[in-house]
Amino acid sequence: MSEALVEIEDLKVHFPIKSGLLFDRTVGHVYAVDGVSLRIRRGETYGLVGESGCGKSTLGRGLLRLVEPTSGRITFDGTDVRSLKGEQMRRFRRRIQMVFQDPLASLDPRQSVESLLVEGLKAHGLHRDKAAVRDRLRSTLDSVGLPASVLNKYPHEFSGGQRQRIGIARALVLGPELIVADEPVSALDVSIQAQVVNLLGDLQDSLGLTYLVIAHDLAVVRHISDTIGVMYLGSLVEEADGDQLYERPLHPYTRALLSAVPIPDPYVEDRRERILLAGDLPSPAAPPSGCRFRTRCPWSQDRCARERPELRVFDDSGQRVACHFAEEIRSGALRMHEVRAELVRPDADSPPDVGAGLIQTRPDLPAP
Ligand SMILES: Nc1ncnc2c1ncn2[C@@H]1O[C@H](COP(=O)(O)OP(=O)(O)O)[C@@H](O)[C@H]1O
Ligand code: SF4
Ligand SMILES: [Mg+2]
Repeated sequence: MSEALVEIEDLKVHFPIKSGLLFDRTVGHVYAVDGVSLRIRRGETYGLVGESGCGKSTLGRGLLRLVEPTSGRITFDGTDVRSLKGEQMRRFRRRIQMVFQDPLASLDPRQSVESLLVEGLKAHGLHRDKAAVRDRLRSTLDSVGLPASVLNKYPHEFSGGQRQRIGIARALVLGPELIVADEPVSALDVSIQAQVVNLLGDLQDSLGLTYLVIAHDLAVVRHISDTIGVMYLGSLVEEADGDQLYERPLHPYTRALLSAVPIPDPYVEDRRERILLAGDLPSPAAPPSGCRFRTRCPWSQDRCARERPELRVFDDSGQRVACHFAEEIRSGALRMHEVRAELVRPDADSPPDVGAGLIQTRPDLPAP
């Protein structure tokens, strides 16, 4: 096993909710990231998945301190990131670059590709030697499969796939070690998605990059991730080797996510487990007590409301799961029950909302 490039320990990012016009009173918090610990090894791809709003982007931004974490430790290549200040922090930022869903959407449409790429170099004082800059831009564009002629073009002249290549070039031009790719292919057609995913893989091989790839869709991270972390409401509920997670999902939430991915074989498709999640993601400003997933979990027990499960190692495979009953669920000793969607409200006085029971199961089948 290679060394860890990134180590995150018990990271929390809480956003205060303010009220009042005259006095800035904090009336609560959004627990966007609420105790995440993970390691990313040098040269690997860590895929982070979970529903929209579960805190993935905040975790990525917290790692770069684009949002300031509330507590926890971040170590990058042995450096304590949270203690960096001023110039040290600026120099550190160059080592981690982000790729966004549509990296050109937020940029000035009158800015040419050349000026977009040079902008990052300028921020780090790397723009003075004109000939060296030109070489650097050309070789970076070449590595993402674009000709040097795009330098004089403008964002609107490109297709979605080309724009994402420019976004990747913009990150690469600074020579980073880690790339945090936040939903890098979510805005692209499926046929183009594969090209961009393959490009990321090729660049990793040739440049020895480490990736944190964030996606709301398991299908996107499946083929490129060495390790996959599944996030739910601010914390990791499961983490495993990519293949292992698909072969043996342990957490009820992971099982539900996987059961939503269609399988091309109609025989298998007809017989497999299907778990439709009841209700919506609860608000991260008022997360349920105990296990955060309990309001939607078809196996939840009384203990789940009282005790928050820790992410623990399941067996010697290294797979980690945050569920009190992972063993019993896996063996079939604990059976699914019907879940009624329960809305968690910030004020305890209001009655719980009861939605339709939405769990579909195939009791004739053995537990996977
Ligand atoms: N700057 C912010 N201030 C307040 N709340 C925020 C801020 N950024 C994100 N959030 C909230 O934190 C939660 C997690 O958001 P986010 O990390 O964007 O989720 P994801 O990327 O998984 O969709 C959401 O409820 C979101 O509204
Ligand atoms: S701890 Fe309880 S509620 Fe949470 S996933 Fe496990 S069984 Fe479900
Ligand atoms: Mg996001």
